[in-house]
Amino acid sequence: MARHVIAPVDELPPGTRKFLEIDGRPIAVFNIKGEYFGLLNRCPHQGASLCEGPLIGLAQSKKPGEIEYTKLGEIIRCPWHGWEFDVRTGQSYCDPRRFRVKAYPAHVEPGTSVVKGPYVAETIPVRIESDYVVVEL
Ligand code: FES
Repeated sequence: MARHVIAPVDELPPGTRKFLEIDGRPIAVFNIKGEYFGLLNRCPHQGASLCEGPLIGLAQSKKPGEIEYTKLGEIIRCPWHGWEFDVRTGQSYCDPRRFRVKAYPAHVEPGTSVVKGPYVAETIPVRIESDYVVVEL
């Protein structure tokens, strides 16, 4: 699995997403409360740009009259017909066995690990002697 640099951390604060194309695939990378997740930006229903939909939560009920609202801001709702997927896993809540969005692992790496280097210019020792600056070659 090839690594791709998406953006400096400052450009993707919590609650934001970034769209890009990697190797011909439309990808969206989300920052959910400081954690990063990648999803294929293509809805498995009819191919909408899935990740342009709103981030919502998940309403669940264990019994009539009780509704629990969880995963706030972690569920993406397709802008075309409203199918919902977990941004963390790509799991569908419409039909988890048949539909899933490809999820890609995303994380933060220090700049030193993604940029080749360190770049060091050739240095030449310099010292001051009386009133003269002397360079040593
Ligand atoms: S295209 Fe996404 S729900 Fe229909």
